[in-house]
Amino acid sequence: MKLLNMYLHLKNKLQVGHKIQIYKPFLKGSEKKYINECIKSNYVSSKGKFVTQFELRFAEYIGVKYATSCCNGTCALQLAIASLYIGKGDEVILPSLTFIATANSVINNGARPVIVDVGDDWQINPEEVRKKINKRTKAIIAVHLYGFPCNLDELLKISQDYEVYLIEDCAEAIGNTYNGRRLGSIGDVAAFSFYGNKTITTGEGGMLTTNNYKIFKKASQMKMHGAVKMDNYYFVSFGFNYRMTNLSAAIGLAQLEKIDKIIERKRKIEEKYRKYLKNLPITFYNLDNSKNIYWLVTVLVENTRVRNRLRKFLTLNGIETRPFFYPLHTLPMFKSEDIKCPVAESIAGRGISLPSFPGLRDKDIKYICDKINEFYGITKLK
Ligand SMILES: Cc1ncc(COP(=O)(O)O)c(C=O)c1O
Repeated sequence: MKLLNMYLHLKNKLQVGHKIQIYKPFLKGSEKKYINECIKSNYVSSKGKFVTQFELRFAEYIGVKYATSCCNGTCALQLAIASLYIGKGDEVILPSLTFIATANSVINNGARPVIVDVGDDWQINPEEVRKKINKRTKAIIAVHLYGFPCNLDELLKISQDYEVYLIEDCAEAIGNTYNGRRLGSIGDVAAFSFYGNKTITTGEGGMLTTNNYKIFKKASQMKMHGAVKMDNYYFVSFGFNYRMTNLSAAIGLAQLEKIDKIIERKRKIEEKYRKYLKNLPITFYNLDNSKNIYWLVTVLVENTRVRNRLRKFLTLNGIETRPFFYPLHTLPMFKSEDIKCPVAESIAGRGISLPSFPGLRDKDIKYICDKINEFYGITKLK
């Protein structure tokens, strides 16, 4: 079996000649020019004009009053929680189907993550949230998974009914909207990630957005050790060093300048996948009335066995894929008899993300879909 795999791998290398990665950033704008400006000016650390410019433009793009940058999306979440004064003895409700950072940011603030199931829309299920609300609940984290919006109408209602904060985890959802408003402008506070595989990148980086000045001020202080201003070394609270560098912000600004183009291309990519895979037992996310920004084109197949076999087949053909996140409640740190999330388990076991980067060529999509069709016993697409 090992020899066969090695043979197939070598054959594939010769045939394909390259590997199609799941993601590659799209750095074909003013990135180099702005980076060179940083180097020329010597402002390579967290002081410099690009940090302010990126924050202002980002706030404008999302449609919020305030945005403060930081060194990654996890830090943005941690700052969001800290700036709401959530800590020891408090609980924060979040979905089982998410990246571990959502839960870690709660734990790193000393609070307890309360894990609930998702609905058929893959997003946190408001009914499950209601069941878990109690006196210790301080916030709900709405993770807009794979770029799709949560049911924010319901979640906002719950947050108002029980007077708990609504935090949006927009790491995967930059640019998408809900009822005409950009995600990240609807809850009390939101966190974004600019990791290299995100819709726009700064290398590593994150942003917190809010319309609440107090939250903005607290987060801005906490990301620089609790300083009011860094220059006078007077600190008013405990804090972290979570600042973004001018170099990262320079890349971020250049990326933001072409975000519409990037999203447009990603929507086209998804349309092509839908068209070429339409005759297969593959389920695409059903969008009733909202568009997506397709961070990753993610689909469901029949069951986990098929999913794993398909992934292996695509790997052997030079195509990189990703499984869904493991539901949090199945990980060793969170495993408990009391947590039941059957929907998250079903979706996670069947989910597969396909190459989705803006530079992906039409002929690459065709090749990937030909291979998926071949896996299902259908010969070349026309
Ligand atoms: C849902 C979600 N939340 C938070 C994060 C954390 O972002 P970062 O990797 O920038 O720390 C990610 C990153 O992939 C994510 O997918």
